[in-house]
Amino acid sequence: MTSHNGNGAPGGNKKIILVTGATGNQGGAAAARLLAAGWRVRALTRDPASRAARALAAAGAEVTAGDLDDPGSLQAAADGAYGVFSVQQGALSSPPVRVEDEVRRGRNVVDAAAVAGAEHLVYVSVADADRATGAAAFESKREIEQYIRRSGMPATILRPVSFMDNYADPAFGIQTGALVTPLAPDVPEQMIALGDIGEFVALAFANPARYLGTAVAIAGDELTPPQTAQALSQANGQHIRRVQIPVEAVRQHHSDLADAVSYLNGHGGYGADIAAARALHRGLRTFGAWLAEPGRARLAALLGSSRVASRLSARSRHERRRHHRDHRRQLGDRAGGGTPLPGRRRTRGDRGTVAGTPGSRRRRRTWPPSPAHRRRR
Ligand SMILES: NC(=O)c1ccc[n+]([C@@H]2O[C@H](COP(=O)([O-])OP(=O)(O)OC[C@H]3O[C@@H](n4cnc5c(N)ncnc54)[C@H](OP(=O)(O)O)[C@@H]3O)[C@@H](O)[C@H]2O)c1
Repeated sequence: MTSHNGNGAPGGNKKIILVTGATGNQGGAAAARLLAAGWRVRALTRDPASRAARALAAAGAEVTAGDLDDPGSLQAAADGAYGVFSVQQGALSSPPVRVEDEVRRGRNVVDAAAVAGAEHLVYVSVADADRATGAAAFESKREIEQYIRRSGMPATILRPVSFMDNYADPAFGIQTGALVTPLAPDVPEQMIALGDIGEFVALAFANPARYLGTAVAIAGDELTPPQTAQALSQANGQHIRRVQIPVEAVRQHHSDLADAVSYLNGHGGYGADIAAARALHRGLRTFGAWLAEPGRARLAALLGSSRVASRLSARSRHERRRHHRDHRRQLGDRAGGGTPLPGRRRTRGDRGTVAGTPGSRRRRRTWPPSPAHRRRR
C-alpha cells in the first residue's frame, strides 16, 4: 500500500479497516481520522442503533454488529479487511473490566484478524506496558502485546498516555471548580489528545513500512497537576483549584486505580519520549494547543453548564424568597394591616447550590472518570 504523503492519506485506495471500539474514545478518533484519510471504515459495535453508531454511519462508516466476546461475529466483521484497529476496555473503565476479560477480548481480535488474512493490526495499549508495573490496568495490555508478538500477526502497537480529553469529561469533575487528583504534585502527567491518537492510527496504517513491527509510546505533553490546574484556569478564565487526595483513599473504592497511580507516582509518571513522538507526527498537540482547540469549547460547555445551573439555582432562590415575601404580605394583610411577621429561618434550600458546583453538599466525585462513551450513546 502506498501513501501520497507521510500523513495518512491512502489516496484512491479504498481498503477496509475494521475499527473496534468505534463508538468510544480511541476507536471514535481512529474512525474519524481514517475516514478523513480516505479509508473504508467498518465500525464494530454491539448496538448499531445507538446514537454513536448512527453518527458513524452518517459520517460514512459501514457499521457492523459484533461482540469482542463472540469470535464468530469478529471473524465476519474482519472478513475482507486490510487492517484491524483493536482497543478494549480495561480495569479503569467504568464498570471495570476484569483482566482476563480484557485479555480474552484482545486475543479474539488478533485471532479474527489472522483468520481474515488482514495485513496490519494496530493495537492501542498503554504507555509502560513494556515493563512489569504490578498494576492490572497495564499488565492486561502487556499480556495482549505479548500475544500479538507470539501470533506473528503483522502489527503496530501504539502506547498512549492519559487522554487530555479526560478533563472535558464531566466524570472528571472539573465543573466542580476543582481538579481532584491522587497524582503527586511533582509528578508530570504525560498526556495526549484523542485526536492525535487517531492521527497516529492513520499514520500507522498509511505507512506500514515505517510502522509494522514497531511499538511506539505516544504523548504530546506533560504537566504536573498544579500546572494542569493553572492551564485549565487560564484557558477558562475560572479558577480551578487543585485538590490532592491520598492514594490510599482511592484504594478504598478502586484498588486497580490505586495500583496504577502508585506506579505512576513511584516512577515519575509514564516514560513516553515526547520529542520522538513529535518527530513522527509534527502536529502533535501540547496541552495548550488542545485547550485552544477542541478543549476550550468543550470545557466552556462543561463549566458553562454548571454556571448556567448556578444561575438557575440563584434565580429559583430569588423566586422562592419573593414568593415567601408575597405570602407573608398576604398573611399580614389578612392579619389586619401589615403586621410584620417574624423573620423566616434559612432553610437548606436557601443555602444549597447545584449538585457538583463549589459548595455543593453532595459528596464530591473522586478520580477516575466513568467512560465517555456512555455520555455519547
Ligand atoms: N482514559 C485514559 O486516559 C487512557 C489512557 C491510556 C489508555 N487507556 C485505555 O483505553 C481503553 C479504553 O479505550 P476507550 O476510552 O477508547 O474506550 P471507551 O470510550 O470506553 O469505548 C469502549 C468501546 O468498546 C466497545 N466495546 C466494549 N465492550 C465491547 C464488546 N464486548 N464487544 C464489542 N465492543 C465492545 C464499545 O462499543 P459498543 O458499546 O458500541 O459496543 C465502545 O465503543 C482502556 O483499556 C484504558 O485502559 C485509557
